[in-house]
Amino acid sequence: MIAPIVRSKAALREMVGGWQKAGEVVGVVPTMGALHDGHLSLVAAAKAACDRVIVTIFVNPKQFNNPSDLENYPRTEEDDARKLERFAVDAVYVPGPEEIYPEGFASTVSVAGLTDVLCGAHRAGHFDGVATVVTKLFTQTRAEKAFFGEKDFQQLQVVRRLSADLDLDVEVVGCPTIREEDGLAMSSRNLLLSDRSRVKAAALHEAMTGMAEGLRTGRPAPELAERARGRILAAGFTEVEYLDLRANGDLRLLERPEGACRLLAAAWLAGVRLIDNIAV
Ligand code: PAF
Repeated sequence: MIAPIVRSKAALREMVGGWQKAGEVVGVVPTMGALHDGHLSLVAAAKAACDRVIVTIFVNPKQFNNPSDLENYPRTEEDDARKLERFAVDAVYVPGPEEIYPEGFASTVSVAGLTDVLCGAHRAGHFDGVATVVTKLFTQTRAEKAFFGEKDFQQLQVVRRLSADLDLDVEVVGCPTIREEDGLAMSSRNLLLSDRSRVKAAALHEAMTGMAEGLRTGRPAPELAERARGRILAAGFTEVEYLDLRANGDLRLLERPEGACRLLAAAWLAGVRLIDNIAV
């Protein structure tokens, strides 16, 4: 079934108003398009938990700190609509920039603390852009539940924080990372990798898995990270931005596993920035 594509917030409001009047639970899956099986797993989770599901597709300029990254970001709307057919979602919201950032738009949602580290320390303004657009998408869709991938683990924590802090009354549901057969986390950015780079890309997850095993034997994270960095660079990556062991909730840096924690990494391969994280 082809889902109706909705391009204006007025039309969306009317649609959602009808559903809410009927007492239906509305879920949203926010995306920037270039949908892959990771996104589709979020859609499946939303379909299982909600009466109505909206998928949003908006390449949010405010979260790109690099103009060429924004320009190169894959845009595949027709393909995306086709991929969503089998899920029979209730609406695909594809707003133009004026629906999200109308003339004179001057507000920013900023989440302190959680955004100072990891991707936040390397991508100035990125999480302000994410927090601002997610707040807009939550208020425009009036969803009760929102589905995000654990692949963007820091983003998931930031969205949980803002939803609670701003009383948005949206239940933020985190869904497991979906991986390719060789372990590479699915990401729209993988489309930007050449065939040769794609083969090398698996080294990131491999090195992280090795590091997680080392942690289980009691060796400290900094020592293991040094080795894992070497493996990632030897595989052809040009830079490892971070490879940290951190606590799940507040993302504080850890030397050894304690409580719920994960390894999180960002690294550059052939001009493409890849991120990943695994539970330890
Ligand atoms: O994860 C993404 O695709 C984006 O950061 C999001 C949450 C859709 C906001 O633009």
